[in-house]
Amino acid sequence: MHHDIERILIDRDRIAERVDELAREIRCDLDELDEGSEIVLVPVMTGAIIFVADLIRRLPQKLRIHVISASSYLGRSTTSSGDPAMGNMPEDIEGKHVLIVDDILDSGTTIRRIRAEFEARNPRSVHACVLLRKTIDSALATPCEYVGFDIPDEFVVGYGLDYDGYYRNLPDISVPKEDAL
Ligand code: IMP
Ligand code: MG
Repeated sequence: MHHDIERILIDRDRIAERVDELAREIRCDLDELDEGSEIVLVPVMTGAIIFVADLIRRLPQKLRIHVISASSYLGRSTTSSGDPAMGNMPEDIEGKHVLIVDDILDSGTTIRRIRAEFEARNPRSVHACVLLRKTIDSALATPCEYVGFDIPDEFVVGYGLDYDGYYRNLPDISVPKEDAL
């Protein structure tokens, strides 16, 4: 285990199993959509990189990927700063099915904001998928169609999630030591 890590919360095998289940659910739902409307997967950078890479390889549908960025954390912080800065929003979303993919639902500000931005552009549908959701009121109250795991209100890293840009490459989802933050 990395020396900055206190303990593993969800190990790589459980992540893989759950990603399989989620992908199965999404695959079935995508099959139900009307044909002829384009599907666009929208990973939120940078936290979603590993999750979306694992997820899309389990989705056989014809789809496009459009990455956007949203950052609500200011540098070395473990709490959201409020209104996230958005980047690379797509121009043409009208009539398309949009699936937003993010790493974690915390205050919910990011997913709410992104969903609102897409809904304002006349899509055919907007759905959201997160790997993790903290069991706090603000997260639980945020509409999100697909949730991988509900976790306690702890700061976690690994499998794409970072602290100050580090630890995204760790394969398990872990709680870092306090003196590593
Ligand atoms: P929200 O807007 O508060 O829901 O925050 C969502 C964003 O904050 C996520 O996309 C993550 O990038 C980041 N974030 C929230 N909680 C954590 C955590 O425990 N570890 C790492 N990043 C987190
Ligand atoms: Mg993020």
